[in-house]
Amino acid sequence: MNNSDNAPANPESCSHDCGSCSSNCGERKTSCNLRVPPHQGSSIKKVIGIASGKGGVGKSTITSLMAVALRQQGLNVAILDADITGPSIPKGFGLTEHAKSEDNAIVPCLSKTGVKVMSINLLLDDQNEPVIWRGPMIAGVVKQFWTNVLWGDVDIMLVDLPPGTGDVPLTVFQTLPIDGVVIVTSPQQLVAMVVAKAVHMAEKLAVPVLGMIENYSYIKCPKCGEIIHPFGKSSTEEAATELNLPILGSLPIDPEIASSFDAGAIESANMEIIIPIVSHIQSLI
Ligand SMILES: Nc1ncnc2c1ncn2[C@@H]1O[C@H](COP(=O)(O)OP(=O)(O)OP(=O)(O)O)[C@@H](O)[C@H]1O
Ligand SMILES: [Mg+2]
Ligand SMILES: [Zn+2]
Repeated sequence: MNNSDNAPANPESCSHDCGSCSSNCGERKTSCNLRVPPHQGSSIKKVIGIASGKGGVGKSTITSLMAVALRQQGLNVAILDADITGPSIPKGFGLTEHAKSEDNAIVPCLSKTGVKVMSINLLLDDQNEPVIWRGPMIAGVVKQFWTNVLWGDVDIMLVDLPPGTGDVPLTVFQTLPIDGVVIVTSPQQLVAMVVAKAVHMAEKLAVPVLGMIENYSYIKCPKCGEIIHPFGKSSTEEAATELNLPILGSLPIDPEIASSFDAGAIESANMEIIIPIVSHIQSLI
């Protein structure tokens, strides 16, 4: 084992398997050496991860809105749903069919407007059946979504990550050539604290963090247009300054967003607010 400034005080904490070891010791060369190529039938230009420290902040909703906005630009867009135990992308797009296979590879499903989607829910017979697998197996499935799916030509792939800093974000950050991570947050104090963990994880694995999107930022009164901040003063700005990250944009609490996602009609949602956020992100990658 090489010694370096980063070597852990206790070398026992290194398992000598960089794929599963979180120790940042001298044995870890760069995060790139764990990368695997996608299926040979795939050509994927850019990959963006959508992450958060906490659950329920709106990652899947924002991933879907971003995909629709990018697709509206005429780009080839894909969503890799890396949330194996809580997959929700197919629901937002109203996809209920079974993904087909071709030459031992899986073919992603196509949304109404042509967004390519792969999710565990498109492979299960019963979408309500829970996936009860241990972490390494779940991470293995996510890896297969990269290596065994015939993505074809993709300009931008969005990876909807499960919350937190567990096996799946670790696998995605190490295996996929991520061009940048977008961190979704909400205004409460507690969220800012857990967001820092997600940011630091990406940084440790040398994955660039593009910035933060604040969801549930405000409510616009439908009668008079007054802006209400239901959570009081947001902690996002403070967290962004502390973490030296830009705020890429913010989304209001909008019942229409929730209802269109629930109805599988996210492609018909109002894109006005997400479009400038997406343009901002595109300028960074
Ligand atoms: N801006 C918003 N306005 C109103 N409802 C929203 C908004 N963003 C998300 N929601 C709703 O909040 C719920 C949680 O959102 P979502 O599933 O996107 O969060 P998530 O971060 O992906 O959650 P998980 O951590 O479980 O994967 C959903 O029912 C969604 O429709
Ligand atoms: Mg989600
Ligand atoms: Zn009002």
